[in-house]
Amino acid sequence: MDSFELDLQRDKFLKIFDNEIGEREGKEALREWLLGEDCDFFIAPASTKYHGNYEGGLCEHSIDVYEMAVRLENLYREDIRKQYLVLNRPYDRDQFMESLTIAALFHDLCKTNFYKTRTTGRNASYVVDEQLPFGGHGSKSVYILSKYLKDIKDEEAIAINCHMGFSRANDSTVSIGESFRYSPLAWIVHVADEAATFMLDRGSPET
Ligand SMILES: [Fe+2]
Ligand SMILES: [Fe+2]
Repeated sequence: MDSFELDLQRDKFLKIFDNEIGEREGKEALREWLLGEDCDFFIAPASTKYHGNYEGGLCEHSIDVYEMAVRLENLYREDIRKQYLVLNRPYDRDQFMESLTIAALFHDLCKTNFYKTRTTGRNASYVVDEQLPFGGHGSKSVYILSKYLKDIKDEEAIAINCHMGFSRANDSTVSIGESFRYSPLAWIVHVADEAATFMLDRGSPET
């Protein structure tokens, strides 16, 4: 992506962030960090080897997952409402959508400050350069987000933690099925991540 495309994409992300997330403790600190020099979220790739392995790939994928999650919520809205009834927990659609936004936009936050470029001859590529060796793929994203967003909700943390589903079930000590049964949000974010990965012509954003 060139710098014009990167700017457009960053603005699109921030518009979703500003408009779809309400007053949350630490929201401004999170925004400042994202835009600061210590954070490469808006220019980071989404992977080393696949499509999305270019500047802006991570932000692009995060927006893709958000948009897929919105589509899925549209499709399953009534089922989601019924499932909360079955679970005997209150369902507030506005809250659900805010949590969906947070979980989708930040599910891969662990990939921030995670890659560096390597130049071999004329070719530049990305390699992993882990600067925060904490936890697993999902749990690291939860940890980073919780440094800024002080009132992260259980379902947001669960959805981010198990967004890889069964493919990285070892990130979690509880079964993934248990998490999905507990949280319709977690299932939606997982399926949205799969859809963004395999139903869009961007290849696999993992690794
Ligand atoms: Fe991921
Ligand atoms: Fe992802």
